[in-house]
Amino acid sequence: MATPLTIADLKKLAQRRVPKMFFDYADSGAWTESTYAANESDFSGIKLRQRVMVDMTNRTLETTMIGQNVSMPVALAPTGLTGMQHADGEMLAARAAEEFGVPFTLSTMSICSIEDVASVTTRPFWFQLYVMRDKDFVLGLINRAKAAKCSALVLTADLQILGQRHKDLRNGLSAPPRFTPKHIWQMASRPFWCLDMLKTKRRTFGNIIGHAKNVTNITSLAAWTHEQFDPRLSWADVAWIKEQWGGPLIIKGVLDPEDAKAAADTGADAIVVSNHGGRQLDGAPSSISMLPAIVDAVGDRIEVHLDGGIRSGQDVLKAVALGAKGTYIGRPFLYGLGAMGKEGVTLALGIIRKEMDITMALCGKRDIKHVNSSIIAGRQ
Ligand code: FNR
Repeated sequence: MATPLTIADLKKLAQRRVPKMFFDYADSGAWTESTYAANESDFSGIKLRQRVMVDMTNRTLETTMIGQNVSMPVALAPTGLTGMQHADGEMLAARAAEEFGVPFTLSTMSICSIEDVASVTTRPFWFQLYVMRDKDFVLGLINRAKAAKCSALVLTADLQILGQRHKDLRNGLSAPPRFTPKHIWQMASRPFWCLDMLKTKRRTFGNIIGHAKNVTNITSLAAWTHEQFDPRLSWADVAWIKEQWGGPLIIKGVLDPEDAKAAADTGADAIVVSNHGGRQLDGAPSSISMLPAIVDAVGDRIEVHLDGGIRSGQDVLKAVALGAKGTYIGRPFLYGLGAMGKEGVTLALGIIRKEMDITMALCGKRDIKHVNSSIIAGRQ
């Protein structure tokens, strides 16, 4: 294939390079995948307002997310098992994001550890926290993120019970991965992926093994992962997390205006309007369809971000126009990483930047900070 021009091109390339069970892991949603599909398709229902005879020189996409400078309002979303899309995946993606001037968010369930990512980056990254039953472990993670100088904690609220993803169940993908002859065949049929994987020692959850109580190997890790997500997590716990962390806090996975108000009451710095990329409650509305009601509900009390279904710079622009101060991409950067490693992540970001820049100009705007609902057709 010639140089990929779209995120869809990168997706095709990733499918050819990444073993099926890991490609499917990235590419799956919960149950019927209706929410996953709506996340993407609801963007195309929003039409842009074409403007002409406006000076379009000297454009800029630079802005801030939680007061931190970003070269465009797009962060890399936290994604688990990223080091299975490509060897050392989190380290490569973090470096690509750093060079691009956008935030990288490391998942609790990453393959490379907080310390691994800190060792290859010079700018602060963000750390995503899953709240586990073992509060000593949670505190340990928070302290490790502080020691690594992470500049935001992203608290994920929508995965205390794991949504069912049929592709993963059919593929027999477990956490941590256990390999059957079928899996070994799927990996062997992707020789470049295998060669890279043989060169690294990072093949299991780096933030957990050796850090959680009594988790020293794959067997104890499997038992731990299954029982640890704490289903009692409540708004009251946010105060404790905020106090232990003491830095910028983002609450991710808010899809309802009432929850958004409760999140604002906690004093957090931002919320991410998100349904976990359609991987949790299938049947929930798309993120973009809920954005205007959530922005109305919280006003200026808390910064609002969005993820889910962003596949182009146009999608980012639409989210910003409807009130998001920033956005995150999950699968788009995973496709890039799976397809071409670090270069693929840079390419994914570059594709989105170019599309955003051209679209902004054709809507008659020069500065992303001036983009608002006036660029949406029918909203003036
Ligand atoms: C995720 N997501 C996620 N979120 C989180 O808070 N912690 C995590 O570990 C993960 N893991 C994860 C793995 C994979 C493979 C995917 C695709 C997603 C959700 C993620 O942060 C984000 O909400 C969605 O990916 C956004 O949707 P798009 O951009 O993938 O459509």
